[in-house]
Amino acid sequence: MVHQTRVLVWLFVSGVSMLKLTICFFNVNFLHRWVGGPQIELIAIATGGRIVPRFEELTSDKLGYAGVVKELCFGTTKDRMLVIEECTNSKVVTIFIRGGNRMIVDEAKRSIHDALCRILNLIKTLEQYPFRAFADALESIPLALAENSGLNPIHTLTEIKARQNNAALGIDCLCKGTADMKEQHVIETLHSKNEQILLATEVVRNISLLLYPDDGKQHR
Ligand SMILES: *[C@@H]1O[C@H](CO)[C@@H](O)[C@H](O)[C@H]1NC(C)=O
Repeated sequence: MVHQTRVLVWLFVSGVSMLKLTICFFNVNFLHRWVGGPQIELIAIATGGRIVPRFEELTSDKLGYAGVVKELCFGTTKDRMLVIEECTNSKVVTIFIRGGNRMIVDEAKRSIHDALCRILNLIKTLEQYPFRAFADALESIPLALAENSGLNPIHTLTEIKARQNNAALGIDCLCKGTADMKEQHVIETLHSKNEQILLATEVVRNISLLLYPDDGKQHR
């Protein structure tokens, strides 16, 4: 049977830059640790606690919360590490790197930093993904037109994309020698084209809502 026990952990200010961490268990101090100022701030952010300058100012609303506070020892070395887990602000993550010497640790730090930057870029790319997919889907219209007219679809599309300064460009389906639809007198109202694209978008959205109902709820 597991009993839930409330353990009070408090951080003492002593001197200027070093702070003393005292863990009190049933009012009996059993662990003292010295931690640096920035670490205290990080612990406060993670646990949702407030840093109080005097013990008298300690009230229950200033207390932070952590599910687990433990000390880890590593092999035969005297290195000890205080681990504070299951904090209120669970978005905070600590990456602990160990290595044979300073160089290896620095190298690992750089690699992790690189990897995090890559992931950040990937997330940004993913956010643009729907727009790209939409653009790709729109491209299928000129591609299909070119293919149905017996032209090389990719080649034709690339040529037209290269001359994008003219808004009236289209596919020269009848091989009249010009891709300018105004010259070919191929005219359609903006309203009708808008409606067609809106309808197509709605159909795709309805299909994707059928396939992934949960996804749709998030992005609506
Ligand atoms: C898409 O779904 C909505 C809501 O179910 C419906 O009103 C609309 O007519 C559907 N659109 C198409 C194009 O099927």
